[in-house]
Amino acid sequence: MKLAVIGCGYWGPNLVRNFVQSNKIRECICCDLDQKRLARMKSLYPSVEVISDYKELLRAPDLDAVAIATPVRFHHPIAKEFLLHGKHVFIEKPLTHSYETSLELVKLADEKDKVLMVGHTFEYTAAVNKIKEIIESGELGKILYISCIRVNLGLIQSDINVVWDLAPHDISTIIYIIGETPISVNSQGKAHFKHNIEDVATTTLNFKNGLIAFIHSSWLDPNKIRRTTIVGSRRMLVYDDIEPQEKIKIYDKGVAVPPYYDTFAEFQFSYRYGDIHSPRIDDYEPLKKECDHFLTCCQKGVSPLSDGYSGLRVVSILEAANKSIKLSGKSVQIQGTKLLNRRSKNNGNGLLIANGWN
Ligand SMILES: NC(=O)c1ccc[n+]([C@@H]2O[C@H](COP(=O)([O-])OP(=O)(O)OC[C@H]3O[C@@H](n4cnc5c(N)ncnc54)[C@H](O)[C@@H]3O)[C@@H](O)[C@H]2O)c1
Repeated sequence: MKLAVIGCGYWGPNLVRNFVQSNKIRECICCDLDQKRLARMKSLYPSVEVISDYKELLRAPDLDAVAIATPVRFHHPIAKEFLLHGKHVFIEKPLTHSYETSLELVKLADEKDKVLMVGHTFEYTAAVNKIKEIIESGELGKILYISCIRVNLGLIQSDINVVWDLAPHDISTIIYIIGETPISVNSQGKAHFKHNIEDVATTTLNFKNGLIAFIHSSWLDPNKIRRTTIVGSRRMLVYDDIEPQEKIKIYDKGVAVPPYYDTFAEFQFSYRYGDIHSPRIDDYEPLKKECDHFLTCCQKGVSPLSDGYSGLRVVSILEAANKSIKLSGKSVQIQGTKLLNRRSKNNGNGLLIANGWN
């Protein structure tokens, strides 16, 4: 395949590295408005062609696909043009800056029968897939709540707030492991440094079955933390993505209400403090898996695990979170939940969900 990566700033070079190394790629083009970024890409990968105006690529008949890693506000206009010209499109998270523009891309990709994939990287990690397997096995019991912390110092963005920057990872992970889309969102945030760009926020996702998930996102924290805690009725799981070895720990801890008691004095919760174990997880680069999955889907003409609908689900929640922040944390319903539970038409049977991405 011949593929172009558009946007070679901070994240784009990671995509270029994986695509250049793939045996499915015959030619890779790097596109960026900044000549310095292009010179950097050429020095790293002498075989790539470099170009500054993506419009030159629109009519290239032998170009199969593009991967977009520009700032979020450019995702939609660039992706739309390439879909209209019949190219497969991969877009970094979040899919676009609004529900309307995401929906337009989803419909366009379906109409043109082209792959539209969003870079929900965590859905391709071994740890998140292990957690999904553990939850589905029933080992944790009924999931009571989920708590995610994704904080560090920087990088304050100019076009999106911290929820749009960091929470897509947590939202896509939660929807993926639970298999459900929340029905409403509450979010509170504060902009300390840039007008209207919140740099710290807490977002709560409410699900139909009573499950609640808290997401704390911050660019203003002295420590880098990427931790998800999943509390089940039987066991509790902690996923620490910073931890090099034991990323997942399962705690045999819990609370039991006594089966019977006559007086208040007799009533006592009993707490269980059992063993802690850390399951083995495979060691591979998630981005390599993600890039390879995109290329496979383009070649086979099937819909990816993180397809356009998956991107739309996350964007609809981000948009609701933004509305809630402006309403000082009031509950905002997620729009179009029926549509959000759909998948791209060539993947209506959900086979890719059931069988993983291979
Ligand atoms: N999956 C992940 O873990 C992950 C991590 C970081 C960033 N991202 C995503 O990657 C995307 C890019 O983020 P970043 O931090 O690399 O941004 P960045 O600002 O560092 O880089 C963006 C690049 O796009 C270029 N660009 C802008 N408009 C362009 C155009 N019209 N044509 C060609 N090039 C253009 C800029 O010159 C810049 O070099 C965002 O969507 C972000 O959310 C994903």
